[in-house]
Amino acid sequence: MRESSFDFSTTLGSAWFPAPVFTASGCASSGRELSQFFPLDEIGAVVTKSVMLKERLGRPTPRMAETPSGMLNSIGLQGPGIDAFLAKDVPWLVENKARVIVSIAGETVDEYGVLARRLRSVPGISAVEVNISCPNVDNRGLVFACDPESAKAVVESVRRTLAGDLPIIVKLSPDVTNIASIARVVVDAGADALALINTLLGMVINTDTMFPHLGGKTGGLSGPAIRPVAVRAIFQVHEALPKVPILGMGGVRTGRDAFEMILAGASGVSVGTASFGNPTALIDVQNELKQLLISKGFNSVQEAVGFAHRPSKANP
Ligand code: SIN
Repeated sequence: MRESSFDFSTTLGSAWFPAPVFTASGCASSGRELSQFFPLDEIGAVVTKSVMLKERLGRPTPRMAETPSGMLNSIGLQGPGIDAFLAKDVPWLVENKARVIVSIAGETVDEYGVLARRLRSVPGISAVEVNISCPNVDNRGLVFACDPESAKAVVESVRRTLAGDLPIIVKLSPDVTNIASIARVVVDAGADALALINTLLGMVINTDTMFPHLGGKTGGLSGPAIRPVAVRAIFQVHEALPKVPILGMGGVRTGRDAFEMILAGASGVSVGTASFGNPTALIDVQNELKQLLISKGFNSVQEAVGFAHRPSKANP
């Protein structure tokens, strides 16, 4: 297969992207810093930091802790609020020819609906990520993704508001017993695609002070340490819902890591924590992934999605 005829594009619901590598929400804000290192139109899309209705200061510091092969963050959804975001960030991204997936997070079901309404007529948005799985909220009851009824209510509210205007990608938490059953609930409620996985809830205690290191006590674990959890979640959800596109994420550092997620069932892959140490990680992952797909004999990304589910000699 020649590189020029290889189809590197992908789709998430009705949204089409020329490449399958995306930023991970929260790890590149609205893409301004990364744009110093590569043109944003070279990647699939920028998934923006989850934005809330009002400006939010986030959690107390310290907000980060290094862990073996990963890190904990306890940001607490700091952000400018939807109005400032729509006034400044989306126009800047569109001007820079980036494809944009806007991630939203609400404190209540109604707030998700209000956020979705604000996005309805904004030009230049490819899809909406509905983040129902942020672990850094003081009331754990607000992790809608951990409760099927709450998850359903949020997705129904966004679906009702957006009608068919924009595809909805719902971001789920790995901190549940059966992620495939939550996935089914949100798809039945109107999700077009799923983002798997958000960070895992974790904690670090400083053994000198003998108190929790993070100001918010708990945080979300990301980085290579969680990649096997993400691969497992993607595999299980793809097995249960093979037609539902998945944006995979969680510890992707190399093209081979991205390839693993695609084999598990992801149609696209987000790179997050790796960008902190290597700002060109997205481009490196994308180039390596393309070469790997071609070297394995695939003609397109789509052909490789979920390949690991096929019967093999080892697993007939
Ligand atoms: C945060 O802002 O605390 C992280 C958001 C998330 O993990 O969903």
